[in-house]
Amino acid sequence: MPIDASNSSDALPSSWREFPIKQQPVYPDYDALQRVEQRLRALPPLVFAQEIRDLKKNLAQVAAGEGFLLQGGDCAESFAEFSANKIRDTFKVLLQMAIVLTFAGRRPVTKIARTAGQFAKPRSAEFEEIDGVSLPSFRGDIIHASDADPAARVPDPERMLLAYHQSASTLNLLRAFAQGGLADLHQVHRWNLSFVEASPSKERYRKMSKRIEDALAFMEVCGITSQTAPSIRETQLFTSHEALLLNYEEALSRIDSFTGKCYNCSAHFVWIGERTRQLDHAHVEFFRQIENPVGVKIGPSIRADDLLRLIEALNPDNEAGRLTLITRMGADKLPETLPGLIRAVQKQGYNVVWSSDPMHANTFKSSSGFKTRQFDDILRELQQFFAVHQAEGTYPGGIHLEMTGEHVTECTGGAYAITDSDLATRYLTSCDPRLNADQVLELAYLIADALKHAEPHSTA
Ligand code: PEP
Ligand code: CO
Repeated sequence: MPIDASNSSDALPSSWREFPIKQQPVYPDYDALQRVEQRLRALPPLVFAQEIRDLKKNLAQVAAGEGFLLQGGDCAESFAEFSANKIRDTFKVLLQMAIVLTFAGRRPVTKIARTAGQFAKPRSAEFEEIDGVSLPSFRGDIIHASDADPAARVPDPERMLLAYHQSASTLNLLRAFAQGGLADLHQVHRWNLSFVEASPSKERYRKMSKRIEDALAFMEVCGITSQTAPSIRETQLFTSHEALLLNYEEALSRIDSFTGKCYNCSAHFVWIGERTRQLDHAHVEFFRQIENPVGVKIGPSIRADDLLRLIEALNPDNEAGRLTLITRMGADKLPETLPGLIRAVQKQGYNVVWSSDPMHANTFKSSSGFKTRQFDDILRELQQFFAVHQAEGTYPGGIHLEMTGEHVTECTGGAYAITDSDLATRYLTSCDPRLNADQVLELAYLIADALKHAEPHSTA
């Protein structure tokens, strides 16, 4: 096994501790924190260096316009909402979206789930009010409990171990689904979870499934079967999360004995959020020490020269596949902000994957009091993302979504025409509003159509 089992903490990336840091919990019991870190260091890695290298290769192809990145899942995983069915359904939605993008968009799709570690949340406000009581803002189950009780909000390091074990069982099931038959292309009709009978996307998907089944039947006659071609019966799903809680991330980093380099083995892909990407702060320092492919969220206020410094810090060797810029501008701001950033990056010849998160800058509080997003705003930001890249001659390489296979009513609009007053029906998220299976399928077709026209060339 390529991972050094000595668990020597000397070589782990701890230099971030010398830098200013944002969005971290303050643990009242420092000894308890150290004991947990020690235990995490001794536990097996969740993912392996070779898998991480495979993902980086895939992303290098995406950067060159020869593939597409699909990243999605919950805003925040929770301890309470953890079940095999939930994992299976999110997996199915990702598979369904990927097959639409592959078939209709004519690109191989790299799938990265926001799961098996997506537990820590950055918050804009230190405090939130629940039923008239002011509480420290909820920062995710890996930090504290969400109960509206000040005692529940005290950060507890033991929760990192719970998050680790939940991530391990999530990964175990995902690996089984990916290789154990559910991802077999013969099952393509079973991936559909949409609940709107008359939805045009559902009908389009049914027709596409039929064509895939016919193609598989023909290939079988020619001797190409699940047995002879493993890519028909299995897939690869990578994991990702925002690496916000650096005590956890450092403790799950390992030195790879093949290369002597440091990998963050808590996930294949990790990203830095919009609120913690300051150049001279701890998160950028930590990310500089790890070999994983990494992402950074880019909001509308970033200046082109700040973006260039960030790219130089995170990808000093201009390695293809190392860095994904996840833009989250908002449907209104994207056309004025993105072109200048693209031109600055192009001018330097920097090799990046451009991905669009059309969720995070389109969030608002509805009149019914729920945090929501309108399907049309999400779609508009995506369409503008594709249009701007086409105009600039660059490749729109991926999308980053908050979505679920559950039947939820959290974002308004879409084929089901969810209204403000419907939000209360099935609003289940433990943080931000997610797209449901129908809304995801509808988006998948719109993106696939846009992708067909995207030029497959490199940004470099
Ligand atoms: C997120 O992806 O859940 C998130 C908080 O994103 P951002 O950092 O872009 O706000
Ligand atoms: Co979110």
